[in-house]
Amino acid sequence: MVTLSNFKFLIVALATLGSVAAASDSSEDLKTIEIAAADGSAKATFIPFGATLTSFWVKDKNGELRDVLLGFDDTSLYKSDNKGHPYFGPIVGRYANRIRNGTFTIPQSKNASGPGKKYYVPHTEGNNTLHGGKVGYDRRDYSYRVLHNSPSSVTFSMIDPAGTEGFPGQVNTTVIYALHAKATFAMTIIAKASEDTPIMLSGHHYWNLEAYKESEDLNNHHVQIQSSNYVVTNPQLIPNGQLASVEGNPMDFRTAKSLGRSIPGTALAAYCGADCVGFDNCWVFDDVSSSERTKPVFSAWSTNSGIKFDLYTNQRALQIYSCNGIYNATNPIPRKKSHGGPDKNYVKHSCLVVEAEDIIDGINNPEFGVNQIYGPDRPDRWHGIYKFSTVDVMKINSSDF
Ligand SMILES: *[C@@H]1O[C@H](CO)[C@@H](O)[C@H](O)[C@H]1NC(C)=O
Ligand SMILES: *[C@@H]1O[C@H](CO)[C@@H](O)[C@H](O)[C@H]1NC(C)=O
Ligand SMILES: *[C@@H]1O[C@H](CO)[C@@H](O)[C@H](O)[C@H]1NC(C)=O
Ligand SMILES: *[C@@H]1O[C@H](CO)[C@@H](O)[C@H](O)[C@H]1NC(C)=O
Ligand SMILES: *[C@@H]1O[C@H](CO)[C@@H](O)[C@H](O)[C@H]1NC(C)=O
Ligand SMILES: *[C@@H]1O[C@H](CO)[C@@H](O)[C@H](O)[C@H]1NC(C)=O
Repeated sequence: MVTLSNFKFLIVALATLGSVAAASDSSEDLKTIEIAAADGSAKATFIPFGATLTSFWVKDKNGELRDVLLGFDDTSLYKSDNKGHPYFGPIVGRYANRIRNGTFTIPQSKNASGPGKKYYVPHTEGNNTLHGGKVGYDRRDYSYRVLHNSPSSVTFSMIDPAGTEGFPGQVNTTVIYALHAKATFAMTIIAKASEDTPIMLSGHHYWNLEAYKESEDLNNHHVQIQSSNYVVTNPQLIPNGQLASVEGNPMDFRTAKSLGRSIPGTALAAYCGADCVGFDNCWVFDDVSSSERTKPVFSAWSTNSGIKFDLYTNQRALQIYSCNGIYNATNPIPRKKSHGGPDKNYVKHSCLVVEAEDIIDGINNPEFGVNQIYGPDRPDRWHGIYKFSTVDVMKINSSDF
């Protein structure tokens, strides 16, 4: 059984960190590092640049490995804006998602209007800041450590100097990715700050559980989210401090349903912002006792490939993005070879980004009641387990197709 108690988390983290002394260090930032589960159920590749996951292979209903993660075959594209900046597979931080007007105070206050010290982070999307500023954690160089020639885990570390992108305090981040038996992908992030600073981290993974073999839409991707409330956002996707019920609208994934077939219904309310159709939203999990959760808070599967994953996490919320803006007609992104590329491109509404994280822009919305300021006495610990399996496509109710 998968548990997420703090105790077990600490043991896992210490065991992994304790064994790195004998390993090699490197900073060749685009070097591909492969890890594999000892039972052959899954394998994954990474680059140190951004501590980025670049491919993720699991078995489909026929036992064939497929790469279910989007990315660039030409790894130099991770470092440039030549094909835009999709944030394919990295760690995002120091503060994931958006910061309203790139401003906040410590302690937290409503829209940075409080008496605390005020900080300014560069605006990168309209008047707001996305994923930590101009050069976020997705575009930093991490050192890495692996234990063997055929490792099942890799550890990345990065020091974010005080003042970078306007944030106070130095933050040391360690990311541990591990592949266990039965295609179980465990991801742990530990961030330690030298002084009080906002921290919100996540992995920014684009999934297509069919590896683009059967379709290039999400109609046969089914999603379930253990959440009754989502964060209300304005046309620039900035929260105002309110939550709204999913009841009776396209945001309701409490019972599994097709993600692709749910997209057209979002058009009326523009859930994903101005001129947008699809999802780019933050759901708050109903089970708030995050450290003791034993059930998955999110599941997704394809009835074509049979590939499914269940996500267990200690995070409070989940951002889902249905690739609404991935396709730029004048500069499309070529698919990886493992997805039928490079002559085919990644198209709109053909993938989903799943980011377990805290409640977005909590630093500007005290109404959410979350303290996102970390410091010397309060390290940030992020934990997620992605348990892959296959669903028996023949046994699925035909109304699900
Ligand atoms: C919005 O951001 C700008 C640029 O950093 C800053 O000058 C301004 O004071 C901020 N406005 C508020 C209300 O915080
Ligand atoms: C950004 O801020 C400026 C100055 O306050 C304002 O005129 C403009 O409408 C804002 N843009 C958006 C997209 O909110
Ligand atoms: C970060 O790591 C550096 C190098 O090991 C160390 O000197 C520093 O104290 C660490 N900072 C924090 C906040 O842990
Ligand atoms: C805070 O910012 C949000 C998002 O821009 C806005 O909707 C809200 O009215 C602001 N609230 C206050 C009290 O300024
Ligand atoms: C699409 O790509 C073109 C060419 O690189 C670029 O100028 C434009 O800003 C892009 N559009 C969007 C919406 O990103
Ligand atoms: C299949 O779905 C239909 C419609 O949602 C439902 O009425 C029926 O009970 C389901 N059958 C099974 C075996 O789950």
